Amino acid sequence: MIQHPALILLASWAATCAAPTAAASIISDATIDKVKSNMIQISTHSWEIGTALEALTELEWPSLSVFGGPLPPPAKLPSGTASDVIEWATKVVKAKDPNSLTLIDDGAVGDPASIGVSVLLTNWTRTNRNDDEFSTAAAQQLTYLLDIAPRTSDGAISHRAEEVQLWADFLYMAPPFIAYYGALEGGSGGLNLLRTAYQQCKLYRQYLRDSSGLWKHIVLGSWQDNHHWGTGNAWAAAGMMRVLGTIHHSKLASEMLKEQIDLTSWINEIVSASWKYQHANGTLFNYIDESDSFADSSSTALLAAVTYRLASLTGDYSHIWAVDKAYNLIKSSVDSNGWLLNTVDPETFSTPSQSGSYSPEGQSFVLLLHAAYLDYLAK
Ligand SMILES: *[C@@H]1O[C@H](CO)[C@@H](O)[C@H](O)[C@H]1NC(C)=O
Ligand SMILES: *[C@@H]1O[C@H](CO)[C@@H](O)[C@H](O)[C@H]1NC(C)=O
Repeated sequence: MIQHPALILLASWAATCAAPTAAASIISDATIDKVKSNMIQISTHSWEIGTALEALTELEWPSLSVFGGPLPPPAKLPSGTASDVIEWATKVVKAKDPNSLTLIDDGAVGDPASIGVSVLLTNWTRTNRNDDEFSTAAAQQLTYLLDIAPRTSDGAISHRAEEVQLWADFLYMAPPFIAYYGALEGGSGGLNLLRTAYQQCKLYRQYLRDSSGLWKHIVLGSWQDNHHWGTGNAWAAAGMMRVLGTIHHSKLASEMLKEQIDLTSWINEIVSASWKYQHANGTLFNYIDESDSFADSSSTALLAAVTYRLASLTGDYSHIWAVDKAYNLIKSSVDSNGWLLNTVDPETFSTPSQSGSYSPEGQSFVLLLHAAYLDYLAK
């Protein structure tokens, strides 16, 4: 729970009632294991790997996640700790062209950076202290984001490399990496990076947010997606939640009170606007506020995860009833082989996944939701 004066203030604005008793029935460990191995098997794109690494960290190594212990993490970990995360991040760095600044080359600015948090953790906890390969790879990725990637005139970093185009997705991919880098670096350089991560959230909100509180998916550049895409809103809220968690657990938290209050209110804005459109069985639609859209379990899972995280941090339980229902829906949407059903196709944004094909990020969102629910219950 919160200790920060600013956040205590926030909590006092929230409902003063006690946390509601758990209404969601827990997904079994056996099912979670299947969801996890399917996630590992089908996550191949940079953003899928970054999201899967975050899911593994939050689920299996919660004290190393930005919602868990203090930052920086310990430099020495008990043998075997976070080995799956470290091995996967190591594989990415070993496969990287040393002349390329990005961790994976794929035309996106934001997406490869999503792997950066795990690369930084690998560097920080490495046993061979002479090995600077991970530090170099992370520094190159940061340089690319801050010094090379195209930007809007007011400084928002483009999500795409070939033109300036802002996607809500960016907020889950890049600012959490920039913030984590800052939390490890500390001092005035670290404070600058934490502020940069916050500033990107602020700028993206200015471009993407509509008066309802929901965010458009993609603006600027040669084409746009003005729908209030469920997954886009979830990426934005969950990304800001990670930046908030990173600031909150860093040594610089007391210097960033206003930023924490802003992030809390921006996350709350998306979450509150979204659950208004929740359907009777707990689902959200792919385009949240369009009644002719279709049910999407992916965005429902990630928005529910964020809502549990937010409640754990602020003590605001006003949406818990909605997300307990969402958790139960996700539980019943995972089939006996560990696949999440009823997802949007994450590459068209606009059509359901075809029968027999599954969403890599959707698999991760189930784990992120489960981890957030367990942490919420433990508060
Ligand atoms: C990598 O870890 C070392 C500590 O072993 C630290 O001094 C360095 O700043 C880290 N690199 C990055 C990019 O965080
Ligand atoms: C939940 O409700 C929506 C809207 O009525 C419907 O389209 C969807 O199929 C339902 N999902 C499940 C898993 O029953």
